[in-house]
Amino acid sequence: MKYSLPFRIWHWLNAFVVLGLLATVFLRKTFLSWRTNSELLMQKLAEIDIEISAQQAKVLAKAIRAGMWEWHILLGYSLAFLVIYRVALFFLDSSQKESFTSLTLHKKAVKLSYYLFYAVTLFMSVSGLVIHFYEALSLSKESAHDIKEVHELVYNFLLIFVPLHITGVVIAENRDEKGLISSMVNGRS
Ligand code: HEM
Ligand code: HEM
Repeated sequence: MKYSLPFRIWHWLNAFVVLGLLATVFLRKTFLSWRTNSELLMQKLAEIDIEISAQQAKVLAKAIRAGMWEWHILLGYSLAFLVIYRVALFFLDSSQKESFTSLTLHKKAVKLSYYLFYAVTLFMSVSGLVIHFYEALSLSKESAHDIKEVHELVYNFLLIFVPLHITGVVIAENRDEKGLISSMVNGRS
């Protein structure tokens, strides 16, 4: 057994949740961007002789985005849960433990990218929850905003990690690690 069942379940739930979080960010920055949509609303309403101010257009555009963004928070809670799940696996599951020193240089680099991923995921969960609950935590709006800036900056790591990881495992599967991807599905090495 290479990967235990609880580990594989964790992996695929985590992949789904992280891809979902990235999808909500993508939508927020593109099709549901309030900047783009408020301009569109003003322009299209003007065409039917309704004048609204930029401020009113902003309120409308943000209302259109709100339902989608709730998913960022829901998936965010799921991610925080998955961090706890992964910590539990670290202590309870010995299925994929190999000694670091016995690995090739390439595998060390791959492992390092996973450690970075875990650090980033922990940071994203804590910072995300802090921004979401800033009032209950008696933080000022300015502090919450500063944390959000760092939350947004660190997100860039995932934009690199996810495509690199997926291409990496596909390449490994086709070279010298045949069955690597199916082992994350059926657990056999
Ligand atoms: C959707 C396509 C994906 C495939 C086919 C895939 C496949 C795999 C495979 C085969 C491994 C084991 C590789 C190894 O032993 O070095 C692995 C590990 C891992 N994957 Fe994925 N993965 C996918 C998506 C993701 C996503 C979206 C994330 C999170 C952003 C993710 C996070 C991880 C992590 C953190 C590990 C390392 C687990 C550990 O050893 O601690 N994967 N993945
Ligand atoms: C993989 C993990 C995550 C990624 C990649 C991510 C990404 C982002 C990005 C890029 C932004 C800035 C959006 C913008 O202003 O354009 C953001 C904002 C935010 N995120 Fe996350 N996030 C993650 C996890 C979480 C978690 C776990 C929570 C907690 C529930 C959370 C809650 C928030 C909140 C409350 C905001 C501020 C939204 C606002 O200003 O209205 N995020 N996130």
